[in-house]
Amino acid sequence: MDIKFIKRDQLKEKPDETKLGFGKYFTDYMFVMDYDEAQGWHDAVIMPYGPIPMDPSTVVLHYAQETFEGLKAYRRADGKIQLFRPEMNARRMMRSNERLCMAVFPEEMFVEAVKALVKVESDWVPSQPDTSLYIRPFEFATESTLGVHQAKAYKFVIILSPVGAYYEEGLDPVKIMVEDEYVRAVKGGTGFAKCGGNYAGSIIGQVKAEKAGCAQVLWLDGEQRKYVEEVGSMNIMFKIDGEIYTAPIEGTVLPGVTRDSIIHILKDWGYKVNETRLSIDELMQAGREGRLEEVFGTGTAAVISPVGGLVYKEEELTVNDFKIGELTQKLYDCLTGIQWGKLEDKYGWTTVVE
Ligand code: COI
Repeated sequence: MDIKFIKRDQLKEKPDETKLGFGKYFTDYMFVMDYDEAQGWHDAVIMPYGPIPMDPSTVVLHYAQETFEGLKAYRRADGKIQLFRPEMNARRMMRSNERLCMAVFPEEMFVEAVKALVKVESDWVPSQPDTSLYIRPFEFATESTLGVHQAKAYKFVIILSPVGAYYEEGLDPVKIMVEDEYVRAVKGGTGFAKCGGNYAGSIIGQVKAEKAGCAQVLWLDGEQRKYVEEVGSMNIMFKIDGEIYTAPIEGTVLPGVTRDSIIHILKDWGYKVNETRLSIDELMQAGREGRLEEVFGTGTAAVISPVGGLVYKEEELTVNDFKIGELTQKLYDCLTGIQWGKLEDKYGWTTVVE
């Protein structure tokens, strides 16, 4: 791929690496590439980060044809920078684009574009503990029309943001509210796709959760509001009687890269992982009986997030005395050890950016 480079006159001041938070700062450059039916994907450019001019009738502003991804670049102790399973994000975006009837951005181009931009912005990859450079690729329909049809033109963009922990709590357990009124996804819908529309519909749950003093919302299945599915910004796993339970990937749950990696590691360690429908009643009962040993979320932004409390209807369940569980901590250490290059990557998941 031929990538043009447009240099900016002045570079931004870098933020304090100990106070990054999540998604607040953006780097100097972004990657942009356009698609139309006549030319296919064309005009790849790394240009100064800045506004994207848009006609008020642009399709994405009306009918939300938009997909996105999230991955990270990590600074290793030897100074090198590495990515974690970027091809999985590329493939998931291809599936999201297919579902939203958008131009598919090919896997090799995705990985090449990510690497090229991260290389240009290598000074922005932080080195403080638990920090990384969050990579946000996204694509949207750019055609100007109010007709509801598959758009004919798209833009693929990558922006970068140096980040710390997603939750203010860091690695301290968070409290989660189980949503039993609104739903996030139904079979045949877009639940498995990473598209902005899914998140727009889920904000109401997040608002309710925050009002209830919780960090996030736990969604139940859309048909019966009975089975546990996923949390606002991460997949979720439960350790009950020594075994792990997590919702299956059957069209309504996001196929998380961290979810997949943790399942691999757990199986490697000899754990039984049940990718099965677990009802909220069984879960609460296990909690009441003291059989719910640990709960944790998995996600690129959230990494491994211990859950210390579950609020469902009038009941509040405390998990593991609101402390991080032994397995949760071990998984966090293993995963982040591989991601930051402190542990041997025996699964071949990391790629150095050169
Ligand atoms: C990620 O983990 O990368 C996500 O996309 C979650 C995000 C919505 C904050």
